[in-house]
Amino acid sequence: MPEAIIAVQRVTKQVADSTGTLTILHEIDFELRARESVAIVGASGSGKSTLLSIIAGLDVPTSGTVRLAGADLFALDEDARAALRAQQVGFVFQSFQLLGNLTALENVMLPLELMGRNDARAAATEMLRRVGLGERLSHYPKVLSGGEQQRVALARAFVVRPAVLLADEPTGSLDFATGATVMALMFDLNREAGTTLVLVTHDRAIAERCQRQLRIDAGRLVQDEAAAPA
Ligand SMILES: Nc1ncnc2c1ncn2[C@@H]1O[C@H](COP(=O)(O)OP(=O)(O)OP(=O)(O)O)[C@@H](O)[C@H]1O
Ligand SMILES: [Mg+2]
Repeated sequence: MPEAIIAVQRVTKQVADSTGTLTILHEIDFELRARESVAIVGASGSGKSTLLSIIAGLDVPTSGTVRLAGADLFALDEDARAALRAQQVGFVFQSFQLLGNLTALENVMLPLELMGRNDARAAATEMLRRVGLGERLSHYPKVLSGGEQQRVALARAFVVRPAVLLADEPTGSLDFATGATVMALMFDLNREAGTTLVLVTHDRAIAERCQRQLRIDAGRLVQDEAAAPA
């Protein structure tokens, strides 16, 4: 069997709070294969965003390891981890994290330029068109609506056709039709580029489109099951 694209091994995350130690994640263990689509579900505050940040190497576990494309993420130094992330991972945050001094087009071009791609403008323009923002290329984030900002963030993550796409409530700010368009794009990426999808979502319809569902409850992985066949 090929090595897992993502292996989460006994990941625990604790933080100090006023009452002592708060355990946000408790010995989370699972593996994802390349091309899999997985939904992470669970109540608000259960630890989903924390887990996604750790998988992305943006947050560090208290104990346990994450292997991404064969590399032990937390054995790498910051620079090596950032380089690996740039090559392999697209990330869409719950807060969109657009750069406010760049236009929509420049935000989407940025990861391509960092990779040295000379077709950055054309590829970014095309991806913005696909998320329905072809008429908003030169707008700055502050004049875009919440849903438009979310779509710029999605375009920025999609445009590099990453091996892994981590998305935290990717349709949370979108109306039904726009959300459906964005979901279709994600599953196209999964099919066409073989991108592994890891989606945190409260939307049952989206969770059911994924091949697998992981349920987190109070920081513990309580369920890991394949989606029921349609
Ligand atoms: N740095 C921190 N210090 C203290 N508590 C934290 C910290 N980061 C997260 N938490 C707490 O850990 C818990 C899990 O947070 P997390 O953001 O992962 O939840 P979530 O499942 O993504 O929730 P939601 O569905 O509302 O986005 C929450 O109770 C949160 O308050
Ligand atoms: Mg969250």
